[in-house]
Amino acid sequence: MPNTRVIRISFCGLGTVGQGVWKHISANRSQLETRLGVRFELHRVAVRSLNRTRDVAIPAERITTDALAVATDPQADIICELMGGTELAREVTLAALRAGKIVVSANKALICDHGAEIFAAARKHGGHFFFEASVAGGIPIIKALREGLVANRFRLIYGILNGTCNYIITRMVAEGAPYAEILADAKRLGYAEADESLDVDGWDTAHKASILAYLAHGVWVKTEQMIVDGISKLTQADLRTTEQLGYRIKLLAVITRDFDLNEISVRVHPTLLPKSKVLANVNGVFNGIAVEGDVVGTTTYIGRGAGQDATASAVISDIADAITLLTTGRVVATGEASIELHERAGTTPKLAPLGHIRTRYYLRLTVQDEPGVLAQIASVMAGNRISIASVVQTAAERPDAASIILTTHESDERAMHHTLAEFAKLGCVLEAPLLLRIGDFHD
Ligand code: HSE
Repeated sequence: MPNTRVIRISFCGLGTVGQGVWKHISANRSQLETRLGVRFELHRVAVRSLNRTRDVAIPAERITTDALAVATDPQADIICELMGGTELAREVTLAALRAGKIVVSANKALICDHGAEIFAAARKHGGHFFFEASVAGGIPIIKALREGLVANRFRLIYGILNGTCNYIITRMVAEGAPYAEILADAKRLGYAEADESLDVDGWDTAHKASILAYLAHGVWVKTEQMIVDGISKLTQADLRTTEQLGYRIKLLAVITRDFDLNEISVRVHPTLLPKSKVLANVNGVFNGIAVEGDVVGTTTYIGRGAGQDATASAVISDIADAITLLTTGRVVATGEASIELHERAGTTPKLAPLGHIRTRYYLRLTVQDEPGVLAQIASVMAGNRISIASVVQTAAERPDAASIILTTHESDERAMHHTLAEFAKLGCVLEAPLLLRIGDFHD
């Protein structure tokens, strides 16, 4: 193919994901080049340390520590921002977009924190920003929302969006293995973030939920506007009890839209899913997302949510879209216009107040094992109009204490917030209660 256009791809960051992208492009080069009608060239690479050993051999003249120079290099066609973090990554992304480049990113924290600024820069300067790899690893959920489901409005989206947490919970249930040991394996396998708190405390899921909410509803919801709980307080006893009650625990993002009130809520929390639900059976590093569209009904997406190969698959799909744009001028729907579309249609939603976020609850309380304790707890709940559905009492891990596990009928976050505040004042409640939500979704 002597006259075939050469596409120069540069990388800012060549860690697990970046190396995976180039490994798969190299392995499938002739098929990808034929299909896309171009030739690929690895143009330049910016890394933090020049001395680190990598699977991909890079000629010395192409590698540097100067990410901004790589992002703005006039000869580069596509910049893959795969460095992580939000400070330098923001600078690099904005610089590339201001230079009119196409940026491909897997950086969910960056998009959640700076998405509005990034999309505005792309629009203003004629750059483009592609981000399929930012949510749910190898599942093409961004494409599904912005293209395949464009006819729909979304009352409910819920999903397992963090592979590390799903891997940890799955192995805790299946093997009874200790949490710390499984987390170490998740790191070794390239699933976990460098800062593991992003995974286990729910923040990574929240970043991804923010991106899905933006695409579905045209509004940026910040993590501080969400309910965000992680998995680090779950015990083997919780996992066993919920199994006995007919549920599996999954860390879910839940995005709801009330079209009558024009309100949206975004929350992240360990959720008891009935075992019969498809997502209750999505295990290991796999992610799963259920999207309820008013035209199509519910569609469900399952696939590997983390790891080098799954994420590389999504990045390469964005590179392919970028090449279509470069070679045909055809702009695929990038999601950059989502806010404008909703504003123009007058459909931008407000955030739902806590009193409008309704669900059933699971509560584990460590209490003094004495007469009248259960009555005090029931009285607080009755005062907040929360109706108890079931009660189980077992021995607690500490002596002279009991563990009371309650499930409730449907209530709301405001009532539960007041209930927890009142529990904290009761002398008989010995520890902060564990609160989980029950996901009886009608999808
Ligand atoms: N740490 C993330 C996860 C990587 O476990 O899902 C993929 O975004």
